[in-house]
Amino acid sequence: MSIHIKSRQEIEKMRVAGRLAAQALDMITPHVQAGITTNQLNTLCHNYIVDVQNAIPAPLNYHGFPKSICTSINHVVCHGIPSDKKLKNGDIINVDITVIKDDFHGDTSRMFMIGKPSILAERIVRISEECLWQGIERVKAGNHLGDIGYAIQKHAEKNGFSIVKEYCGHGIGRKFHEEPQVLHYGKPNTGVVLEAGMIFTIEPMVNTGKAAIKLLPDEWTVVTKDRSLSAQWEHTLLVTDDGYDILTQAD
Ligand code: MF3
Ligand code: CO
Ligand code: CO
Repeated sequence: MSIHIKSRQEIEKMRVAGRLAAQALDMITPHVQAGITTNQLNTLCHNYIVDVQNAIPAPLNYHGFPKSICTSINHVVCHGIPSDKKLKNGDIINVDITVIKDDFHGDTSRMFMIGKPSILAERIVRISEECLWQGIERVKAGNHLGDIGYAIQKHAEKNGFSIVKEYCGHGIGRKFHEEPQVLHYGKPNTGVVLEAGMIFTIEPMVNTGKAAIKLLPDEWTVVTKDRSLSAQWEHTLLVTDDGYDILTQAD
C-alpha cells in the first residue's frame, strides 16, 4: 500500500489539469438543456478538451470505456455512457469530466437539473452536494479517511437517503485511479492518516431509495437496483497542513 505524496512540481501540474476539468464543465453548462442528446454533450466536451485545451479526455478507451465523458441520468448512479437519448424536462444528470494534461489527471463532476424536477429530485441534488462538502471540510493533514466517510454517510442518512458502497473516491495523479480508496462511509478515527501533498477525489453517490446497485449488461452503466434517483458531485482535493485546496475549481 503506497500513497504517493506529490512534489511541488506535481501539484502545480495537478492544479492545471484540475482547472481544465472544471472549465470544461463550465463550458458545457449552458448546453445541458431539454432536447440535447448526451452524445452531443460528449462531442462538445471532447472537441473542447482536445482542440481548445490541448488535453486528453481520460475516460475515452479507459479499460474500454467508449466515450469521452460520463453522463448519468436519474436512476443511473455513475459511468453512464453518452447515447442518442435526449434530455427531457424533469431529468437530473451528472456530467463527469476527467482530463489529462501534461501527464496529470483532473477529475470533477456536477449535477444539472433539466427544467423543473420533482421536489425529491431537487432534494437529492442538494443533499448530495452537501455530502461532498461535509467530506471536503474534514480534509486536513492529521485527520483520518474514516472522518470523511463518516461525515458524508451521516449527512445522507439523516436526510433519509443512502450511500452507494461499491464505488468510492480515489487517489489521482499520473494515474486516473491511485491509492487510497476514499470510502463515502465509515467511522471516525479509522483508516489512512492524511498527509500534506496527498491528492484524491471525493465523489459521493447518494440514492433516494436503497443503497443497492446493479451493473447493466453494457458492463459500465451502474443503476440503483430499486430504480430510485441517484446523484453525485465530485472534486479533486489537495491535502494541506491546515486543510484542503480544491484543485477542480475554474477560478
Ligand atoms: N470519472 C470517474 C471517476 O470519478 C471514472 C470514470 S471511468 C470511465 O472516478 F471509464 F467510466 F470513464
Ligand atoms: Co473520480
Ligand atoms: Co469522475
